[in-house]
Amino acid sequence: MTYPVRKTPRLGVCYYPEHWPREWWRDDAQRMREMGLSQVRIGEFAWSRIEPAPGRFDWSWLDEAIEVLHDAGLSIVLCTPTATPPKWLVDSMPDMLALDAEGRPRRFGSRRHYCFSHQGYRVESQRITRAIAERYGRHPAVIAWQTDNEYGCHNTTLSWSASALRDFRLWLAKHYTDIRALNDAWGNVFWSMEYSSFEQIDLPALTVTEANPAHVLDFRRFSSAQVASFNAEQCRILRTLSPGRDITHNFMGFVTDFDHHAVAADLDVAAWDSYPLGFLEQFWFSDAEKLRYARQGHPDIAAFHHDLYRGVGRGRWWVMEQQPGPVNWARFNPAPLPGMVRLWSLEAIAHGAEVVSYFRWRQAPFAQEQMHAGLLRPDREDDVAAAEVREVAAAIAAFRPLDTSSVVGAPSPRVALIFDYLAQWVTDIQPQGAGFSALQLTFEWYSAIRQLGIDVDIVPPAAKLDGYSLILVPCLPIIDERLRQRLDAVTVPVLIGARTGSKTQHFRIPAALPPGSLQDLLPLRVTRVESLRAGLIESGDGFNVRLWFEHLETDLPAEWTLSDGRGVLYRRKNLRYLAGVLDESGLRRLMTTLAAEAGLPVERLPEGVRLRRLGSLRFAFNYNSHSVSIRDVLPRSADCLMGSAELGPAAVAVWR
Ligand code: GAL
Repeated sequence: MTYPVRKTPRLGVCYYPEHWPREWWRDDAQRMREMGLSQVRIGEFAWSRIEPAPGRFDWSWLDEAIEVLHDAGLSIVLCTPTATPPKWLVDSMPDMLALDAEGRPRRFGSRRHYCFSHQGYRVESQRITRAIAERYGRHPAVIAWQTDNEYGCHNTTLSWSASALRDFRLWLAKHYTDIRALNDAWGNVFWSMEYSSFEQIDLPALTVTEANPAHVLDFRRFSSAQVASFNAEQCRILRTLSPGRDITHNFMGFVTDFDHHAVAADLDVAAWDSYPLGFLEQFWFSDAEKLRYARQGHPDIAAFHHDLYRGVGRGRWWVMEQQPGPVNWARFNPAPLPGMVRLWSLEAIAHGAEVVSYFRWRQAPFAQEQMHAGLLRPDREDDVAAAEVREVAAAIAAFRPLDTSSVVGAPSPRVALIFDYLAQWVTDIQPQGAGFSALQLTFEWYSAIRQLGIDVDIVPPAAKLDGYSLILVPCLPIIDERLRQRLDAVTVPVLIGARTGSKTQHFRIPAALPPGSLQDLLPLRVTRVESLRAGLIESGDGFNVRLWFEHLETDLPAEWTLSDGRGVLYRRKNLRYLAGVLDESGLRRLMTTLAAEAGLPVERLPEGVRLRRLGSLRFAFNYNSHSVSIRDVLPRSADCLMGSAELGPAAVAVWR
């Protein structure tokens, strides 16, 4: 895909005027400007102050806050406050609360306590959206809207409420029409699970052992569609009452509970919230990686999401919340290495972000997030990140030519990495081996190719594949017929990973066995699969297979075999099938081979260093806590705009 790069990147901040005395606002706004910030996000949790009682609006404070920010020359991203319905609203319809899988209400007292399926709350969400958009939709300072806040955060995509049950049954009736079709599709004969009407169907929870995976998958599809339609309702109102403004939503890191492409179909820009240290601590990374990168984040965490959300936003994306210091929500919350906030910010820009906005302006000395750093300390003095933000602002000014000819028409990445939210639901529902995750596998392939200095687009299965030199399909259990046709048509190297094509739409094994319809492209059949516990590995020449291994029937010769002769990698013309999960060095070796075949230049990068091209600019990022040399990469004649071939800890180099 060719993604346009539009304007000079902007810096922003998340601000909560309702948290601070009015007398501080003007000073805050001036200091924001002085720090090099030009936009402010406000309002996403302010419902109880905007509408303190049903139908009684208090606009005075928000009017004033918006004027103060506007007077200081700041643009405003205004939010709909629907992530925090106030107490009076919840009390007026207590069944609007989401229920957890055990049927317990997710009570008032924090946030995101609503159920996406509650019709009364849908009406309220539209009412408050309309009220705010009517008041500020045409205000000259308001340049964009954020809908709600972090859909899905705190496991809130799924709700087991009565409203969800009612809507799920309607959804099923619409999709299957006839209950016999549903019984047949789900295979309900298996344990006498057959239904005689849609009204008999429950939400899949509290079953004695696992629920039917086809039932769960449809519940996931339904729940995802509820998020998309909730968002679409707000977008429709905002478009009418606030013409010409961008609409965005702040998505999250490693959250896959709903189809982000479906939600983004109604947005102009995708945004995401980047907390590299929290994500490293909370996700699958090894203890060694957690230690090594404790103050930097794994070098691919932020970049993976930048490249993912560029696809979600069809080329337009922001970082809405950038970690500025220690957060409060991970198991351990170290401080970033000096320079890391600067590095993360510049890296986002190098991947094409239009905006990098920091969370939050000032650390709050009260309530849940009092241990979360901001750009300022609670005592109003600058915190550590403030100086780094000033440096980023200065750097953007130095790259000025970035906004015009040097970037527009820049060659886009030549590797397409295909990821589908549906794939993650399938491996979530039936991992078959503990820890098997389509998302993690996609991340591992991403990391392997990025370690070679190659730029990547992460794209959905529906993306056009023309123009790419290499196509990677780590794990798509349910393969769309149109994607199969597109893979058939391309002539560049394609790598398809294990479990791809292994399920039908209804979570069954395909009649012809996996990889299903892909057998037209690759004549091989998966006859048995096995999952392997940590330490149980199958070895070949220079690689190990871990976690997952498939036994195949095929007349194709194996390109890579285990030491006992069983095949792991098969090839027919430009297409390859990988019948297992490779260890890190095996994966790197395979990506090196593919890159060479695809004609992609491979760089010899020191460990922990990543590169990224943006138009005529090249960026290098050192994620190590020690210095490294990139002499091998940086051309002698390079005109360095920043840094040098000797990269200190957390340092960035930029050259043309
Ligand atoms: C985000 C959220 C913010 C704040 C932040 C703390 O997930 O959108 O409101 O809670 O985390 O890191």
